[in-house]
Amino acid sequence: MQLEHRKIVLGICGGIAAYKCPELCRLLQKQGADVYTVVTASGAKLVSTATLQALSGHPVGSEIFTAADNIGHIELCADADCMVIAPATANTIAKLAHGLADNMLTAAALAAPCPLIIAPAMNSRMYRHPATQANLEILKQRGVFIIPPADGPLACGESGIGRMREPAEIAAYICALLNRHGLPFAENTLLPKPDAPRELTAQKLLPTASGAGLRVLITAGPTEEPIDPVRVITNKSSGKMGFALAQAARERGAEVTLIAGPVHLPTPAQVNRINVKTAQDMYDAVKAKLDDVDIVIGCAAVSDYRLAYVYPQKLKKETQGDSLTLTLIKNEDIIAMVGHANPRPFTVGFAAETMAGEAQAKEKLARKNLDLIALNDVSRSDVGFNSDDNALTVFDRDGKIADLPKAPKAVIAAQLTELIFNMVQSSRGTASGNKE
Ligand code: PMT
Repeated sequence: MQLEHRKIVLGICGGIAAYKCPELCRLLQKQGADVYTVVTASGAKLVSTATLQALSGHPVGSEIFTAADNIGHIELCADADCMVIAPATANTIAKLAHGLADNMLTAAALAAPCPLIIAPAMNSRMYRHPATQANLEILKQRGVFIIPPADGPLACGESGIGRMREPAEIAAYICALLNRHGLPFAENTLLPKPDAPRELTAQKLLPTASGAGLRVLITAGPTEEPIDPVRVITNKSSGKMGFALAQAARERGAEVTLIAGPVHLPTPAQVNRINVKTAQDMYDAVKAKLDDVDIVIGCAAVSDYRLAYVYPQKLKKETQGDSLTLTLIKNEDIIAMVGHANPRPFTVGFAAETMAGEAQAKEKLARKNLDLIALNDVSRSDVGFNSDDNALTVFDRDGKIADLPKAPKAVIAAQLTELIFNMVQSSRGTASGNKE
């Protein structure tokens, strides 16, 4: 059971998907949660409050100002672990974005000191409307967790984006959030900034979030070394692994800087991104930040060599003849520079290997003076470069410490980040323990 001793407030708006809420309530209870419900007036037309009351074992919140058996909007969420609004209609989303509190549900949400999760559900045009999207963006930036709707047949008879996620998916999301696992639909979620006002922070999460108080720098993607104005030397890195790490670190409350080679990926929310092209640019960007970070993770596939001479004009085969020799010179090793810095952050490298992986990884760990290295077997076509999945073996100076079997990069990133953060936090605990 993943939600034992958890109080969850389930808010239900007037979307047809409200009929799925008794099922959601039951699934949350199955995981041990104590579920309280609150409905809007339109929600109450679509799902019976008698059913909700019988299922949850608690009175259903509906009117703000009436009835002795109604629960006050302030108390309702005061000791809750989270409030989830499912379905969240365009109307309620707009009210939440602008702080309206004109019914029991919106008033409870405004007063809630706990994480707020919403599962939007509506017609696709309403969902795509710039007003709804702007409202969702406001909520996102405020730290509300948004479970994006799915594509499919809609109650209005049309088909498209706007279906509320299934109760099982929403329940799984809540379990992941409250237990701080990698979140499903992670690209649409974020934690409030660690320094956000107390009432906006996920209080039950942040004090224990594994990355709280940590500043992390991550390199990601390939580098490009120019040959002439139109040609480059690069590699197949897509940046997906490094971006997933940045997102996972941010979701765990860390302050994250992402130094990205040329890739076309969106920046994870609340991550500070610095774009670079060449290995030298990446080296300079990392060096400039080095004094301000606690952890550096070198996930980028940095070009080991650059051209000794970059041609100022496009090379022409007519003038070069049948063969062309390019002279390459070695680039600085970025992660080795970090590993040998003094003082040095906790330093994590990757080793992308096609053969003798373990030996190579251990050799790189020692030579670059790293704390951890994640071995990536890039001879496999199903993981590594440009794949959506990855698999890693992690070594510290004493040997292997973790096998992370094949999984989506978001999951691998969550696992590796947890590992790193736990090591760093416990070494900090030890350090402060020694001082006392
Ligand atoms: O971007 P994706 O498509 O998602 O793919 C992910 C990945 C396969 C690129 C990633 O998981 C990975 O393995 N990254 C490391 C790639 C690499 O360059 O490995 P390497 O064994 O050549 O380098 C070892 C370490 O030294 C790495 O941490 C690398 O960032 C670092 N390095 C290398 C050369 C250099 N000049 N400076 C460095 O910092």
